[in-house]
Amino acid sequence: MAEQPEQNMDKATMEKITSLAKRRGFVYQSSEIYGGQNGAWDYGPMGIELKNRIAAAWWKEMTQLHDDIVGLDAAILMHPRTWEASGHVENFTDPLVDCKKCKARFRADQIPPENIAEKKCPECGGELTDTRKFNLMFKTHIGPAEDTASIIYLRPETAQGIYVNYKNIIQSNRMKIPFGIAQIGKAFRNEIVTKNFIFRTCEFEQMEMQYFVKPGTDVEWFDEWRKRRWAYYEKLGVKMDHLRWHQHGPDELAHYAKDAYDIEYLFPMGWRELEGVHNRTDYDLGRHTQYSGKDMQYIDQDNNNERYIPYIIETSAGLTRNLLMVLCDAYDEELVDADDWRTVLRFHPNLAPVTVAVLPLMKKDGLAELAQDIRKELKEDYATDYDQSGAIGRRYRRQDEAGTPFCVTVDYQSKEDGTVTLRFRDSMEQIRVPKAELALRLKQEIKAYKRIK
Ligand code: GAP
Repeated sequence: MAEQPEQNMDKATMEKITSLAKRRGFVYQSSEIYGGQNGAWDYGPMGIELKNRIAAAWWKEMTQLHDDIVGLDAAILMHPRTWEASGHVENFTDPLVDCKKCKARFRADQIPPENIAEKKCPECGGELTDTRKFNLMFKTHIGPAEDTASIIYLRPETAQGIYVNYKNIIQSNRMKIPFGIAQIGKAFRNEIVTKNFIFRTCEFEQMEMQYFVKPGTDVEWFDEWRKRRWAYYEKLGVKMDHLRWHQHGPDELAHYAKDAYDIEYLFPMGWRELEGVHNRTDYDLGRHTQYSGKDMQYIDQDNNNERYIPYIIETSAGLTRNLLMVLCDAYDEELVDADDWRTVLRFHPNLAPVTVAVLPLMKKDGLAELAQDIRKELKEDYATDYDQSGAIGRRYRRQDEAGTPFCVTVDYQSKEDGTVTLRFRDSMEQIRVPKAELALRLKQEIKAYKRIK
């Protein structure tokens, strides 16, 4: 019998999530054999499937379901003037302090103000340095010469690739304001503190959408996009009582924002930012006009060729942070029988890395071959797994822990009457279904899926 992983603990701790993520092939530490690379993580076979599904859900929501939003995949390396124009060279900084004694490094805004005032290390009591500004952009060189002329940055946000292409997209795709451009891609930040697993990393992925609107309509669109992004998480099927809004106060607003709200999620370490919705005004396009010398005005041909620099409403979510949220949200431990616990990831079937696992009750008597045939048929429509080793109960538990919503078991009766057992992860209920109806039945179950816990 399986014991609860840690009795009387909160179910989802970051330690348990990190350990399950490694054990089941979701996320590994980067370069682990060399002791690991801080701030970087590798996504294993299950992790990449989950990440792809989260990205696909976002992409569908933001492009396919909106006639006025198109996609883009811009380069990570951009002309360095981009980052002068965007304000990142000047403003994208965190306040940094070091302990002279134990050499620990802190973000000054993340330790108690009295420690800053008294210059006292919160860990060892040693003396802290003065607070200094630390730019979060990664710098490298392009070409063979490592001089100031060859400096280039790894993008700290995907947004700028959209702004510099906004005129190209208007021309190539005949877009009319209001319209949006969506993009998913890597971003890099030299974060001072990278803890809590994949929550804050130096290399991560963002899912950003920039919506271009007429000045004066920005507040209305800002409210509209806040509503839409909230509704998106409802549709994704996560615990809505674990989400809340946080409006940025004047001292929190990014240099480009007039108004900003975060959607926060209740992670095991507390409420933290999951996604931001920002009113970036005409700041970015105005600055690109100034720095590039190119006219970034929109010409409204339906309105006497009226010209203006559009305002931008941005929705900016971390893809890798969404993955952590989905993992924490799905994690559950459940008492099945007296003293028998199971760990289960209650992913929505649309997000689960494996949708259906096919399990022959025995390897012998042709059951394995029959199960393989069934898997082959299901493969066309679903992500499948096959497992024939160990007792059936243990195999179910393995699939529960990987978040597989459905298991199909092939037994002796299957050979006689062509039916199989369909087992549901959440309820552990089992029903018999003719194998010819399996694919359709799964489709119906996925469509009607409601999380029970
Ligand atoms: N373009 C606007 C922008 O980048 P942000 O609030 O700095 O805004 C947006 O970042 C989202 O990107 C955050 O809500 C978070 O989900 C994700 N994110 C930011 N920094 C991150 C990091 N170091 N590691 C993982 N995700 C991060």
